Amino acid sequence: MKIAASADVDETAELGEGTAVWHLAQVREGARLGRGCILGRGAYVGPGVRIGDNVKLQNYALVYEPAVLEDEVFVGPAAVLTNDVFPRSTDVDGALKRDGDWQADGVVVRRGASVGARAVVVAGRTIGRYALVAAGAVVTRDVPDFALVAGVPARRIGWVGRAGVTLVEKGPGRWACPRTGEEYTEAEGVLTGPLGIAESG
Ligand SMILES: CC(C)(COP(=O)(O)OP(=O)(O)OC[C@H]1O[C@@H](n2cnc3c(N)ncnc32)[C@H](O)[C@@H]1OP(=O)(O)O)[C@@H](O)C(=O)NCCC(=O)NCCS
Repeated sequence: MKIAASADVDETAELGEGTAVWHLAQVREGARLGRGCILGRGAYVGPGVRIGDNVKLQNYALVYEPAVLEDEVFVGPAAVLTNDVFPRSTDVDGALKRDGDWQADGVVVRRGASVGARAVVVAGRTIGRYALVAAGAVVTRDVPDFALVAGVPARRIGWVGRAGVTLVEKGPGRWACPRTGEEYTEAEGVLTGPLGIAESG
């Protein structure tokens, strides 16, 4: 474990073996990170957030509670995983809203998925396994496994494999990764991964 002197890691946060927290990053109370994670400069992990193994949060990535990030997730620089669809600072009487006055709705990022630089994911949405969110996208709907989504609002523009490379169509419903040769099948908008494992389960 390596924590930079200027990082702010709450004493109730749990970090797994080999996890590194760089300068000015903040990990709030009760957050749990697995093994081998890297938090870049200025990254933020909200209270109680759950993060798996080998996850990378790039510089100034902001992960608001109660987000859940599974193993091998990548969150690009300055990306924001939000937690409130209709945010307000105060109630109608002007009183500051506090924890308990509103319901936080966390983003879920499933195994191996990546969120590009400066992308925003709206509260409560799920990014499917090995999906790739393009730089600058705004995700307003759940993203299927292996989907490559881009734009505002984010729309699917292709499929990516586990290696993060755009898949090439080999025939009706048949896709392959040009880097690994792994094959995928598509049926009714759902892509199923190699080795007969349905990644969409
Ligand atoms: C989305 C992405 C994977 C596409 O890569 P690619 O297939 O090499 O893309 P291309 O440059 O061939 O572009 C394909 C099309 O998608 C569009 N496009 C590419 N990136 C886009 C983005 N971020 N948002 C919207 N559209 C995008 C291109 O304009 C092009 O459109 P066109 O066919 O109408 O001209 C890539 O551009 C991207 O955003 N990667 C994430 C980078 C990132 O944030 N890294 C974080 C670590 S620093």
